[in-house]
Amino acid sequence: MQQPVLAGRFVDLKRELDDEEVQGLLALSIERPTPARLEEVCQMYLFDPTWRLLGYAVGRDQVAGCIGVQLFLRGEAQVRHIAVHPERRRQGIGRAMVGHVVQAYGLRRLAAEADADAAAFFRRCGFSVESQGDRQGHSGRFLCRWEAEAPPAANSRP
Ligand SMILES: CC(C)(COP(=O)(O)OP(=O)(O)OC[C@H]1O[C@@H](n2cnc3c(N)ncnc32)[C@H](O)[C@@H]1OP(=O)(O)O)[C@@H](O)C(=O)NCCC(=O)NCCS
Repeated sequence: MQQPVLAGRFVDLKRELDDEEVQGLLALSIERPTPARLEEVCQMYLFDPTWRLLGYAVGRDQVAGCIGVQLFLRGEAQVRHIAVHPERRRQGIGRAMVGHVVQAYGLRRLAAEADADAAAFFRRCGFSVESQGDRQGHSGRFLCRWEAEAPPAANSRP
């Protein structure tokens, strides 16, 4: 996965879950967010060690984007939440966050469920995209999957 060169830095948001800016970003990536739903999501990041929430910070600690993943065994993970502040979209932050979690957690496979807009983003980031039709009252859902390229076999010729 290609990494753009950006000026921000990655921060762990586990201790910033009460922050309004962080909650606002999380709400952007939840369909029909309610206070109860947001609270439920925050509890997962607080208490389940397989759920990790990272932020992309710019300037003096402004969080421009966040990505939440659930980690599984064997380098597999699922993107649970991803959002970039509306004024900072299309600058490569979303792609940088996806690339960062792949590197930081040594991922070989990453999946995400997305609506049509986010699926277009994941496709540009190298994911395959498969329509799931309308699921559980959510219309136009897509399953997006990325897999690391297999390293060349030891006996393969250049
Ligand atoms: C999806 C989202 C995280 C993308 O973040 P971003 O920082 O704007 O994405 P990037 O700038 O890194 O874009 C990477 C590539 O995807 C493309 N892209 C981004 N959003 C896109 C969209 N809605 N439709 C089509 N392509 C898109 C970019 O043009 C870029 O393409 P490139 O290969 O030509 O450079 C952001 O739009 C967002 O926060 N959306 C609202 C929350 C949301 O829907 N989250 C997903 C829940 S399933």
